[in-house]
Amino acid sequence: MASKELREKFLKFFEKRGHKTAPSFSLMPPDSSVLFTTAGMQQFALELEGKQDPIKKFGSQHLVDCQKCFRSDDIGEIGDDTHHTFFEMLGNWSIGQDENGNYFKEGAIKFALEFLVNELGFDKNKLYPTIFKGNKDLPPHQNFGSGGIPRDEESLKIWQENNIPKERIKEFGKEDNLWGPVGEVGVCGPNSEIFFDRGEKFGCNRKDCAPNCVHCQRFIEIWNLVFIQYYKDKNGKYQLLPQKSVDTGMGLERMAAILQNKASAYETDLFLPIIQELEKISSTNYKLQTTNYRIIADHIRAAVFLISEGILPLNVEQGYVLRRLLRRAMRYGKILGAKPGFLIPLAQKVIEIYKDIYPEVQSKQADILTVIQKEEEKFKKALDTGMKETSSVVAQGDISGKQAFDLYQTYGFPIEMLKEMAKERGRKVDEQGFNKALKQHQEISRAGKEKKFGGGGEFSAELHTATHLLHSALREILGEQVKQMGSDINLERLRFDFSFERKMTSDELKKVEDLVNQKIKQDLIVKKEEMFYQEAIKSNALAFFREKYPEKVSVYSIGGFSKEICAGPHAKRTGELGRFKIVKEQSSSAGVRRIRAILE
Ligand code: SER
Repeated sequence: MASKELREKFLKFFEKRGHKTAPSFSLMPPDSSVLFTTAGMQQFALELEGKQDPIKKFGSQHLVDCQKCFRSDDIGEIGDDTHHTFFEMLGNWSIGQDENGNYFKEGAIKFALEFLVNELGFDKNKLYPTIFKGNKDLPPHQNFGSGGIPRDEESLKIWQENNIPKERIKEFGKEDNLWGPVGEVGVCGPNSEIFFDRGEKFGCNRKDCAPNCVHCQRFIEIWNLVFIQYYKDKNGKYQLLPQKSVDTGMGLERMAAILQNKASAYETDLFLPIIQELEKISSTNYKLQTTNYRIIADHIRAAVFLISEGILPLNVEQGYVLRRLLRRAMRYGKILGAKPGFLIPLAQKVIEIYKDIYPEVQSKQADILTVIQKEEEKFKKALDTGMKETSSVVAQGDISGKQAFDLYQTYGFPIEMLKEMAKERGRKVDEQGFNKALKQHQEISRAGKEKKFGGGGEFSAELHTATHLLHSALREILGEQVKQMGSDINLERLRFDFSFERKMTSDELKKVEDLVNQKIKQDLIVKKEEMFYQEAIKSNALAFFREKYPEKVSVYSIGGFSKEICAGPHAKRTGELGRFKIVKEQSSSAGVRRIRAILE
C-alpha cells in the first residue's frame, strides 16, 4: 500500500466514525518550552488538560490527523531500521469523556483492532499489545495519591475480550507504558502499545524475545494508545485531570515499511526516490553503504521541512539542529564520494515526494534550496579556515569541552569531525564538556531572548506597524534570507533581530529607512484578516516567530508590501506613523543583526 493511501485510509476510517480531521500543526510547537513538535497531541494540549473546549477550536471532541513531527533526540540513532528525525504521526483523539459518546480505552482498542485487521489486513495473531504494570517502580514522591498509578487492568481485560490471549499481552513499567508528558510538565497517562511480530528472520532467537526486546527488532511498535488521565506538575507529581481522553499515535513511516513489505521505511516510497538520486551522484550504492545513505536521506528530508517553516541554520535552538543535520549530511556525503552541491537534487526529490501533502515545501522551494546551498558554502569555508586551528589544538593533546565548543562557535567545526580528527591522533574529546558548554550557551541565549509580541499591552501600535514595514524593507533591500529572529517594542522604540550575515552598510541602512518612510508617506491601509494558521502560511504571510500561534490567526497586510501573522495592535494607516529613523544597527548573535529604530 502506498504511503499516500495509508494516510488517506486512516483519516477516512476515523472520519467515517465521527472524527473531524485537524490539519497538521507546525513543526514548531504551540508551547514554546519545547523546541519541536514531537507528537500529535501537542496542538491539543490545552484541550486534553480540560482548559479549552475542543469543539470551539477544532469543531469536535473526536479528532484525527496526520502530524509532522521532529525528534532531535534521535539524531544519533539514525541509520537503523526504525528511527527518523522528521516523521509523520497518524493519530486519533477522543477528548474528555462524557455522555455524548466519547470513547476511552474500549473504544480506542476496538478502533485500533478494526483498522489494523479490516483495513490494513494485519493478522490478529501477530499483534502483541502491552499494558502498564502499575507504578511500584516510581519513586514515592512521584506516586499519585496513596495507591499510586494502578496497573491497567481495564486495558488487559478489554484486549482479552477482543480475543487477544493473555500470553500475548505484556506488561511494562513507567519507561515503556506511562506516556508523557512532552517536556517537563503536562498531560500524560498509561499507554497500551501495539507491537507487530515481523517474524523470526528479524529476531534474536532468544527464548524470551518479546515486545521491547533489547536485542532485536522482531517485534515493532506500530501504534501507541495513550489514555490521558494525569497532569505531571513541576514537582513531578501526577495529578488526576478533571477528564479522561484518548491520544493515539501511529508512525506513518514504520507502517508504510510493513505494508510495503520492507525492512525499513528507507526502502519505501517515502524515501526511495531520495536514495536512488543519491546513488546517481555517489560512487557507491545503498546496499554497500546503507547506514550512510540513510543518514543523508533522513537529514535532508528533515532539513527541507525545517527550512520550509522558516528555520535557518544558526548556532542556537532549532537553527542549531538544522545546521547539525545539514553538516552531518554533507560530511556523510563526502564519505560516499558525492560532489559539493549534492544536497540540492536530493532536496528537490524531497519536495517532489511531499508537495501534494505539505504544499509549503513547494511554495518555499526557492528559500529551501538557497538556504541549503548557502550553508554548504559556509561549511566549506568553516572547514577551510577551522582546519588549521583545529589541527593545532588536536596536536597539543586531549581536547577539553571548552576548546571543542570554542572551535564550534568560532569556525562551526562540528563535534563529530573533531572527534574523528582526535581519534586519528589518539586524542580524546570531552564531549560531555562540549555538550555542557553548548547547553549553557543556548540557555543564555534563550534567557536573553526578547519578550515577544503578545496581544494587547502598553506598546505602541505605530511601532508595531513600523516593525512590519521594516521587516519587508529589509527583505527587499538585503534579500529574502532576512528572517525575523526576535522583536521587542516599548513605548519609545522598536528593536528588531533578523538573520543576516554581516554588518549592514550605511547605504543599505539608508535605503531601508527611505523605503519604510516612502510606505509611510503613501498612507497605506493596514488590513486585518482572520484566517487559519495553515491558510495564512499558504498565502505567504510571514510568520517566523516561535510564537504560540492559535489555530486561527490575524494576518496584517500593508498595501501589497507586507503581510504577516501578528497579534497586533496596529495603526489603521501607515500615515499615522510619523518619520521612521534607524538609530542603531549591531550584531545580536552569530548570523543575527539587531536594529533599533524610532518614530519621530
Ligand atoms: N502521544 C503519543 C505518542 O507520541 C500517542 O500519540 O506516541
